Amino acid sequence: MSHAEDHEGTRRDFLYYATAGAGAVATGAAVWPLVNQMNPSADVQALSSIRVDVSGVAEGSQLSVKFLGKPVFIRRRTAEEIEAARSVDVDSLPDPIAQNPNIDGNAPATDENRALDENGEWLVMIGVCTHLGCVPIGNGAGEFGGWFCPCHGSHYDQAGRIRKGPAPRNLDIPVAEFVDETTIKLG
Ligand code: FES
Repeated sequence: MSHAEDHEGTRRDFLYYATAGAGAVATGAAVWPLVNQMNPSADVQALSSIRVDVSGVAEGSQLSVKFLGKPVFIRRRTAEEIEAARSVDVDSLPDPIAQNPNIDGNAPATDENRALDENGEWLVMIGVCTHLGCVPIGNGAGEFGGWFCPCHGSHYDQAGRIRKGPAPRNLDIPVAEFVDETTIKLG
């Protein structure tokens, strides 16, 4: 097999495993070691986009996938989480910017401007604390029912917006879109 063929095979395998792994297991904790264990080579890590099957993600749970060397959280929120996130006064937020490259860069950090879909069911964020880069704990952690970074105590709300602690910015949102009803493309 030539080098080129071998390279293509590796790319296809990675895409297949990323999709199958995401669809088969609904919780991030279980998927993360699988993706890590694959230990893709540097050129595969640099893939500019991946597709994630989210058909197996239950309401109120979260999937973590690795994209461009970073964890990405894909959360399917409950009606209660959406309601809580949408009732926040944006002017009270430490970071009032949505930090969402999929919309206008200066858009306010309303929940509507952070969620992936109109109903707000899906929230996709880069799982890296904007303070010094730890991976926050999710599933309702922290004082605001979202994510908590124990490194220095940053609390993020149900929309991943920083509410308390040293982190200067809301959790960043990656370039993402639904390409069909159950598939999210990152990048
Ligand atoms: S790295 Fe998250 S609070 Fe410091």
